[in-house]
Amino acid sequence: MDFSKLFISFLLLQFLFNNPSMVHAGPNCSPYLFREYLGAEGQNVTFADVPINANVEFHFILSFAIDYTDSSPPLPTNGYFNVYWDADNLSPSLVSSIKAEYPNVKVAMSLAGDTVDGFNASFNPTSIDSWVRNAIYSVTNLVKEYNLDGIDIDYEHFKTDPDTFAECIGRLLYYLKQNKIVSFTSIAPYEDVDVQPHYLALWRKYGHLIDYVNFQFYAYPKGTNVSQFLQYFETQRCNYEGGKILVSFGTDESGGLKPQNGFFNATSILKSEGKLEGIFIWSADDSKKDNFYYEKQAQDLLAT
Ligand SMILES: *[C@@H]1O[C@H](CO)[C@@H](O)[C@H](O)[C@H]1NC(C)=O
Ligand SMILES: *[C@@H]1O[C@H](CO)[C@@H](O)[C@H](O)[C@H]1NC(C)=O
Ligand SMILES: *[C@@H]1O[C@H](CO)[C@@H](O)[C@H](O)[C@H]1NC(C)=O
Ligand SMILES: *[C@@H]1O[C@H](CO)[C@@H](O)[C@H](O)[C@H]1NC(C)=O
Repeated sequence: MDFSKLFISFLLLQFLFNNPSMVHAGPNCSPYLFREYLGAEGQNVTFADVPINANVEFHFILSFAIDYTDSSPPLPTNGYFNVYWDADNLSPSLVSSIKAEYPNVKVAMSLAGDTVDGFNASFNPTSIDSWVRNAIYSVTNLVKEYNLDGIDIDYEHFKTDPDTFAECIGRLLYYLKQNKIVSFTSIAPYEDVDVQPHYLALWRKYGHLIDYVNFQFYAYPKGTNVSQFLQYFETQRCNYEGGKILVSFGTDESGGLKPQNGFFNATSILKSEGKLEGIFIWSADDSKKDNFYYEKQAQDLLAT
């Protein structure tokens, strides 16, 4: 028995086991990713309203599950997440139908978001252990009830230090991936002196558990131009080193680089440089008024 060969085989198997994507697909085989948030703005938008291009990987992101009660005022629940998206138009059976109709569609839910009934949806755990226990329990139940594939982390207000946030979210993501409750995870940071340190602490310690960075480029000031946008993209590529940073714009009144001001010009440049991973839009609710014009344009760019 040649033990050095045996050991090398063991290492190889270990490597493939930890990098399953390397077994079946090279980087050029996988299509670009298009993602869209929906369900937060009360516009009665459903999955079937949104145009879906068969040649992209498509994620709907339900917005939001929040760890607050639905009392008035809403109170923090220490990690018990409740559905705050429009569950009439985005129900478990509608999730199943859209996934059955389009093999390229997956559905995720986003945790927290900005506000709950006008109050900050703050990250406010009682302790790390108890928050993680409650979050694992409630998130797992929602994922199973709605037949979801992934999870997005979108806290925007914090009552703890960055390390506590990193530890709570990191342990939640670890459990969900280790037990194959979800197949992908993302985070949704933006440039802000209070917000970024929390996500950067999470990225430093648990970045290997995070598949996509849904960077909210629409949180930059209104009137952002193409060259500024490309500079911001480079900054975030450094911050979230090794991450798949998705570019984004808002179809609401948010800031950043709008399609009218060159968003697709900038995206084409990134594509030609091999830096583009995908595009996400906030949000389908806001795009309904324009009949999802920019959703079509974004997916056309990714599909060709
Ligand atoms: C959404 O649907 C509900 C129930 O059918 C209706 O009362 C409400 O006016 C609709 N809202 C919008 C913005 O279409
Ligand atoms: C809500 O969050 C913002 C920024 O995170 C903070 O400035 C504001 O004081 C918070 N509001 C309340 C009522 O806590
Ligand atoms: C973009 O905006 C910056 C800051 O206002 C300005 O210096 C720059 O010239 C602008 N670039 C273009 C291409 O308009
Ligand atoms: C974006 O590209 C279009 C079409 O090529 C061009 O007409 C437009 O001027 C460009 N806009 C910017 C801001 O570069």
